[in-house]
Amino acid sequence: MLVLGIETSCDETAVGIVEDRFTLQANVIASQVELHAPYGGVVPEVAARAHLDQMLPTVETALAHAGARIGDIDAVAVTSGPGLMGALLVGVSAAKGIALAHDIPLVGVNHLRAHVEASQLEHGELEPPLVALVVSGGHTSIVVMEPDGGFRQLGSTIDDAAGEAFDKIARFIGLDFPGGPEIDRLARGGDPEAYAFPRALMDASYDMSLSGLKTAVIRELRRMEAAGVEPDLADVAASFQEAIVDVQVLKTLRAAADEGLDQVVLAGGVAANSRLRERFTQECDVNGQRLIIPSVPLCTDNGAMVAASGSNLLAAGVTSELCLAADPNLALAG
Ligand SMILES: Nc1ncnc2c1ncn2[C@@H]1O[C@H](COP(=O)(O)OP(=O)(O)OP(=O)(O)O)[C@@H](O)[C@H]1O
Ligand SMILES: [Mg+2]
Repeated sequence: MLVLGIETSCDETAVGIVEDRFTLQANVIASQVELHAPYGGVVPEVAARAHLDQMLPTVETALAHAGARIGDIDAVAVTSGPGLMGALLVGVSAAKGIALAHDIPLVGVNHLRAHVEASQLEHGELEPPLVALVVSGGHTSIVVMEPDGGFRQLGSTIDDAAGEAFDKIARFIGLDFPGGPEIDRLARGGDPEAYAFPRALMDASYDMSLSGLKTAVIRELRRMEAAGVEPDLADVAASFQEAIVDVQVLKTLRAAADEGLDQVVLAGGVAANSRLRERFTQECDVNGQRLIIPSVPLCTDNGAMVAASGSNLLAAGVTSELCLAADPNLALAG
């Protein structure tokens, strides 16, 4: 069964094709990075317009990569939320059009669940219960995936998402948008212990807070500037990144231990971070926990994860009506 997945929740027009739930046939992304770079962040109206331009060409490229024709597609999956309303509407409308024109099932997919289920394309079927860290541009949550596939939230950021903090600090120090990969690169040449940036909410809760860290980095840079001291930006990037990674690793693995679970999934754009991957790999090795992380292209927004998640729903007999609504605030945990 060939499922086409459409993702337009933010600034990537992405289309993936998955065969029989686990086999990746195409994963095409038309990035809008250059359009948003001058603004230092995603401009919703610009994103929606660019999705309109890129939607059909991206579907055609994905079909070409898979060596398929649109008539070969058995169902269409689409991110129906969460995300930017105008951006979501483009994908949802395109998916409805394809489903209607070709008389195939439509299935609406939760973007965050799709981030978690992306890993099935490389690591096989997830076997919940497990703990997942969903860490991206708009979300930072620790959740349990229950044996029935439902999610239970243990904690989340009470202010900035990790990706948002990466992007804001990168912008402050003059790096390109999106800032996460830039900080990741810069930090490789830096000392993670050069600056003692704060780790917030190191209490028993699974919640996280990143705005104080962001303020501490900005204040330190301003202090150095006022004192005429040239900051070593690689050290700043490495120390900032380490502060984020420390909290994510500690809280996620404590959650796994508290819940008695020995499988940990990393999901979302920030799961592409090399230091986060390295630290989780080291610690899970020591603890004997199974760590499941998608490869970098399957961490950041993509259509393949939507096709995979949609395939799971279809296999469970779930489809959506043609009146499927985009929901910018769709939650992961019910
Ligand atoms: N190597 C990296 N290190 C740190 N952050 C990264 C890295 N690669 C990507 N990111 C960050 O990941 C975020 C994008 O993630 P994703 O594509 O999942 O975001 P989104 O879809 O906008 O957010 P959400 O999934 O919450 O709706 C950006 O903030 C980006 O800076
Ligand atoms: Mg995302």
